[in-house]
Amino acid sequence: MALLLSLLMALVVFSSGLVSSLGCGLFQNHVLVSKNTFMLLGQMRRISPFSCLKDRTDFRFPQEMVEASRVQKAQALSVLHEMLQQIFNLFHTEASSAVWNTTLLEQLLSGLHRQLEDLETCLLQEMGEEGSLLGMQDPTLAMRRYFQGIHLYLQEKKHSHCAWEIVRMELRRCVFVINQFARKIKK
Ligand SMILES: *[C@@H]1O[C@H](CO)[C@@H](O)[C@H](O)[C@H]1NC(C)=O
Repeated sequence: MALLLSLLMALVVFSSGLVSSLGCGLFQNHVLVSKNTFMLLGQMRRISPFSCLKDRTDFRFPQEMVEASRVQKAQALSVLHEMLQQIFNLFHTEASSAVWNTTLLEQLLSGLHRQLEDLETCLLQEMGEEGSLLGMQDPTLAMRRYFQGIHLYLQEKKHSHCAWEIVRMELRRCVFVINQFARKIKK
């Protein structure tokens, strides 16, 4: 019960954050899709995480990226976009479809795909307003490194069920964190 409650509160925080910060006129869609991604990643669980304790690892989520108190909107949107794109790529593989429930996987992928398209529209709009991202350090670099680590881990573990389970939990946490980060986007 306590867990359910904290999960619900988490979802509320997470949706209201997105509502107030992504100014592309697509709020409802973003909120729904993000909540859905978070929930689908939960529903996809196939084995008990307790049987996979030995496979746990620290993927070193680039925390510094989500700690800045004020971020340029275009920068933040591109980080968000990169993360969703990387999650999409990770799950859009043969290795992934061999492990996960096809129905849930398809729902996850189509939701991510839609959200990516929306974000691309926002990003183009923002970059038009702020000028290009040229001259900035590529804000998505740390995110790409983080996902490279995840790919490598899956390879090393030969895409075992436990390895995927560990990755699923990691990404669920990651979706949650990045959506909280979206609240800090400068309006
Ligand atoms: C996949 O998930 C759906 C939705 O939860 C469920 O109805 C279906 O039975 C699952 N399929 C398998 C093969 O587990």
